[in-house]
Amino acid sequence: MKIKKKIALWLLCCCAFGQTAAQDREDISLNDKQSFISHLLEQMTLDEKIGQLHQCSGRGNFTGPDTLHLPLEEYVRQGKVGTMLNIIGIKEIRKYQSLALQSRLHIPLIFGLDIIHGYRTGFPIPLAEAASFDLAMMEEAARCNALEGAADGQNWTFAPMVDISWDARWGRVMEGAGEDPYLGSKVAEARVKGLQGEQLGDTCSMMACVKHFAGYGAPMSGKDYNSVDMSMGQFANFYMPPYQAAVEAGAATVMSAFNDFQSIPCTSNRFLLTELLRERWGFKGIVVSDYNSVEELINHRVAENRKDAAAQAFQAGLDIEMVSQCYLRHLKELVQEGKVKEEVIDQAVGRILEKKYELGLFHDPYRFCNEARSNRTINSSRIRNSSLRMAERSVVLLKNERQTLPFSDMIRTVALIGSLGKSQFDMAGAWAGSVDRSKIVTLYDALIQRGIKVIYQEGYDIRSGKISSLNASLQAAQQADAVIVCLGERAEQSGESKSKANLNLPEGQQLLVEELAKTGKPIVSLLMCGRPLIFNEVRRHSPAILCTWWLGSEAGNAICNVLWGKYNPSGKLPMTFPANMGQVPIFYQYKSTGRPTRPHVHYCTSYIDSSTEPAYPFGFGLSFTSFRYGKPEIIPSDHPDHAHAFLRINISNTGSRDGEEVVQLYVQDKVARITRPVKELKGFQKVFLKAGESKTVTFPITDETLGYYDNDMHFTVEKGEFIFMTGGSSHDTQEVTYFHPFSKI
Ligand code: NOJ
Repeated sequence: MKIKKKIALWLLCCCAFGQTAAQDREDISLNDKQSFISHLLEQMTLDEKIGQLHQCSGRGNFTGPDTLHLPLEEYVRQGKVGTMLNIIGIKEIRKYQSLALQSRLHIPLIFGLDIIHGYRTGFPIPLAEAASFDLAMMEEAARCNALEGAADGQNWTFAPMVDISWDARWGRVMEGAGEDPYLGSKVAEARVKGLQGEQLGDTCSMMACVKHFAGYGAPMSGKDYNSVDMSMGQFANFYMPPYQAAVEAGAATVMSAFNDFQSIPCTSNRFLLTELLRERWGFKGIVVSDYNSVEELINHRVAENRKDAAAQAFQAGLDIEMVSQCYLRHLKELVQEGKVKEEVIDQAVGRILEKKYELGLFHDPYRFCNEARSNRTINSSRIRNSSLRMAERSVVLLKNERQTLPFSDMIRTVALIGSLGKSQFDMAGAWAGSVDRSKIVTLYDALIQRGIKVIYQEGYDIRSGKISSLNASLQAAQQADAVIVCLGERAEQSGESKSKANLNLPEGQQLLVEELAKTGKPIVSLLMCGRPLIFNEVRRHSPAILCTWWLGSEAGNAICNVLWGKYNPSGKLPMTFPANMGQVPIFYQYKSTGRPTRPHVHYCTSYIDSSTEPAYPFGFGLSFTSFRYGKPEIIPSDHPDHAHAFLRINISNTGSRDGEEVVQLYVQDKVARITRPVKELKGFQKVFLKAGESKTVTFPITDETLGYYDNDMHFTVEKGEFIFMTGGSSHDTQEVTYFHPFSKI
């Protein structure tokens, strides 16, 4: 049967049987995607095409300014909406899908949601997951997020967020993989793979959305949504790699960022959305704006009005407008005036129809709405178990004096101080709108379940940060075998629009630790937070410190497993922790200067009132065992196509417990044509070593290890000396020199 006839038959079926026709589309055989889409496009009016470019937000679950005033149902029925966000649950999704199928051409909707660290089952915040340096585990975590979301009707998640950031004042650091472009790229790739699975169209996969393109993690003064100003070299070498990695991993969609990039808002930035993304990287998927950001071109003062905003965004290459209605109201006029070509609209609509096709929505618009699958999947043992394993691996041991940890089995009574240890809400983390908070295991719950006697005290007021029950907390400590103090932030203190001018842990929280330490009891301080914080008094007084971030549904169990040594911590910091506010933004990968930092030396890159040393460097994290690194060696390569050479290093577990270590490889290009970082991460491997065991770890040295982008964005590898550094943190490495014999430009 000819495609035209098949489409006519499909439309006939839809008209005759309403929504149910969708389930019975075998007879319209959608075998040929391109013909199906082009014939469908031929039948669409300009209004219907523009409708596909409009995305509406559901009522109630706002992730931006509200949309309560909109006649949503009418819009959908009239084909004025192509995709929706913030519609949660199969019942609601069915409702809107059935309205879409009542539109003239019965084109199904795509449903999208921010599944940032868990749909119903909460996972650690993405920054915490990145601390695991465990790519397979992060892929599995993303897979679980997709499994639950897709089982409950969602087709699209606005994740992963891959914005590099050096600035912990910016609250959204909690959503990304931290400060490093290499780690960020690997994590981006793992997350895209996890979310999208084998292929789009599997009912257990979702479309990923790489965001926020581009440079959103570098707002001036750390204020969310603020202007971004960076050189092309800076962008290409530090910020761009994770976006590119995610696109190369096959991400179906990309979201433009709120900020400007080189003085043009990303929403209307043709260089980013068309030249770089489509022409240079060959991206074939959908570009969606951020929430209302097309209309916000007026606030940026680059557009005079909504019509101008629509023209600029569309001409730049932005397909879908999220929430604001500049396209819906003005694109038609712009076509009629000859300012926008209808064939370009066809291309954008074609991309959207293509994704609907690939998701199988033309075959069956309700294929993601299966209650039995949803019941089977959500909160299943696989997902809970993965959440637990991910959470254990996300914990970073920052200090452990006098072997305070792990607790022995003799610790049976603990004083648990701080309401964060009891708060399901906070353990879910900052972007957990759909997470079932009633199923979060807090530390308090987990301790009780293990038969530990818990003497709980609030200790300090989480809102004011002031000490609220000092005497009672001290008494609790006296009666206990050990003290666990839960410090940090409330979930709503990090995340979107949660920039902070002060990263210091409130004085009351720190003072409390100082007082508790005087009891002489073993004290463990837990930092439950969404970003690097400053806590120098805690560092001084607490013999043991764990950064536990916000770990999601299995938070309590994971923390207990670490405290009692059932899991030996292996996390490493994905962001530098500053020692004071003046150092922020702080990162390990700074560039060489003419006057390098030298302690106590005048006229060099430093502060007169502070050290430049962070509290904890990037890549830092302890274990309950100890590791010894051998000297790194360069081994020639027999296969120069694969690698120029190899770096080999021996690592031994010298302690008495099994453990995992993240072996890190850094490189310094000794002399280059442009200024280069003092060191850059270019490889890591997480190795498990039994007590007493040794292993050899090998890293290939390739163009990617050695090269950089010059200021014209040409990838360059220079001939000459490179210093390789290996070790267990960016500040604790051993060096070897490698000579690269030829250049490549
Ligand atoms: C705004 C955020 O910047 C973005 O990350 C998110 O996906 C959208 N809102 C939709 O909720």
